[in-house]
Amino acid sequence: MMEDARTYEELRVGFTAAVSHELRTPLARLLAILESAELPGADRDALLAEAREQVEEMSELIDDVLFLSELESGRQVVALGGISALPVLEETRDRLADSAERADVKIRVDAAPDVEIPLRRRMLQIVVENLAVNSIRYAGPGATLLLAARPGELEVSDDGRGVEEGDLSRLFERFYRSDRARASRGTGLGLAIVKHVVASAGGRVEASGGPGRGLRIVCSFPAP
Ligand SMILES: Nc1ncnc2c1ncn2[C@@H]1O[C@H](COP(=O)(O)OP(=O)(O)OP(=O)(O)O)[C@@H](O)[C@H]1O
Ligand SMILES: [Mg+2]
Repeated sequence: MMEDARTYEELRVGFTAAVSHELRTPLARLLAILESAELPGADRDALLAEAREQVEEMSELIDDVLFLSELESGRQVVALGGISALPVLEETRDRLADSAERADVKIRVDAAPDVEIPLRRRMLQIVVENLAVNSIRYAGPGATLLLAARPGELEVSDDGRGVEEGDLSRLFERFYRSDRARASRGTGLGLAIVKHVVASAGGRVEASGGPGRGLRIVCSFPAP
């Protein structure tokens, strides 16, 4: 019980810090956009569209915070039935297309249209996006990222840099980051959140791979 309370507190503090940090970016951009709009001859329509995007980004983040507190308060978060995986995988691919291109990572989607995953839509998005962003961030140039769903299973894998075998089991710990990752942005909460979400749906998460052999994350769910 004490232990639970402590890890909960750690998660909460870490998450609050991460969220505040992440909110600052769209807020700063919004301020810059407003300042530009005040200049004579400003392209107000374009600036308005940009401003809207920043506000949407902030709303999503706030949804995540609400979602996490919902998870932690143990309320019902698991969907009854399931949601079709393919559209979520495709949306994630499209949303991350630009950053994947900048990182020189290719994204491949593989799922039959009738495959369902027993998570709420927002939760499936959170899981897939966290895993996909990791591959784009850490796999390295030339890698391919696979977003796949089969009955009862969701797989996000890449054929990039990977992690040491000894680190595979630690990846899901809160705030765990490999030495190499420390130079980049991130808090080490992504995979902990993924595990939390999948576990709350009665599923489990497994990581496999090795240095130079990429990282493969499989989330498996019990049959309905
Ligand atoms: N696809 C991957 N390839 C290689 N290493 C990875 C990959 N995914 C995760 N890792 C390693 O696992 C660590 C933990 O990942 P996690 O998503 O939990 O945190 P983060 O990405 O560092 O931060 P956050 O997700 O909170 O922004 C990363 O810092 C990185 O060292
Ligand atoms: Mg991450």
